[in-house]
Amino acid sequence: MPSKKNTEQKQNISHLKVVKKVLTKPYNDIDLNNWKLYENIKTGTWWEFPSRENKNGHSYDYHGNFIPQIATQLFERYTKKNDIVLDMFFGSGTSGIEALNLERRCIGVELKEELVQRVSEKFTPRDLVVNVNIIQGDSANEQIKDKIKDRLNIMGRECAQFLVLHPPYDDIIKFSDKKEDLSNCATTEDFYELFKKVAKNGYDMLEQNRFAGLIIGDKYTNSRHISLGFECQRRMEELGFVTKAVIVKNITGNEKAKGKSAHLWRYRALFGGYNIFEHEYIMIFQKTKLKKIKSKK
Ligand SMILES: C[S@@+](CC[C@H](N)C(=O)[O-])C[C@H]1O[C@@H](n2cnc3c(N)ncnc32)[C@H](O)[C@@H]1O
Repeated sequence: MPSKKNTEQKQNISHLKVVKKVLTKPYNDIDLNNWKLYENIKTGTWWEFPSRENKNGHSYDYHGNFIPQIATQLFERYTKKNDIVLDMFFGSGTSGIEALNLERRCIGVELKEELVQRVSEKFTPRDLVVNVNIIQGDSANEQIKDKIKDRLNIMGRECAQFLVLHPPYDDIIKFSDKKEDLSNCATTEDFYELFKKVAKNGYDMLEQNRFAGLIIGDKYTNSRHISLGFECQRRMEELGFVTKAVIVKNITGNEKAKGKSAHLWRYRALFGGYNIFEHEYIMIFQKTKLKKIKSKK
């Protein structure tokens, strides 16, 4: 028979609801006990955004910047509040702006001095010290790691918690005449070599078990398709990254409107036997050690 004390206790707490503990992974703030609430987070391999976000500090002011929604998806899925995102090709600073919007922090490396100057003006002097650190330099050079470490130190961390790699897609858009510029390589093999050096520097600066996002498209030149995406993926794997996902992102509607020239491209495609690019890749990697798969003898 239950004691009088036990019965009284049960009556006292009968109005209380059971509160479930928050269940998160070590690399994000998604509460898995409430996973149905995160409808905005994409978990499929086909991504489509009808238009580019142009609010919350974002604008299409740099030919070659990625749409902010890519940063939103990656940072919500693979970072926690206050984490540091390292972007080795900072460009117009999309990663920095979105990191701030989501209460994350960012270190960005960009080669072009005048661009660094211009992009710095998008952030307050305080944010430029505390939350968004921009380094002018060559991401492929090993010495860039010392500069990144200095900034990480100021921000109170030893490593970055997420790595963004959005390189030039070889020479499709030429960003500068500098010899260190990945869009200015003499051959595509040289591009892969420089890309691997940047990815290696990023790998060394990334915390173990954390993630990297590679955003890249392919190219068509000299009458053939060149798989920049899969070639760069191979180099990432050679460095020790494990591929977690290969996402195909629809780019139609996210670029400047082609207008009349769209007809011309269609004619050229029909004439040349090739297809017009409507996608790019977002590849997700993890810096982790996987158990070796046993091979059959
Ligand atoms: C595709 S854009 C990145 C755009 C960026 N994600 C944004 O949203 O604005 C590539 C950038 O890499 C820069 N870049 C090229 N080679 C570089 C290098 N060796 N080190 C650092 N930045 C480099 C280019 O100047 C260009 O701004």
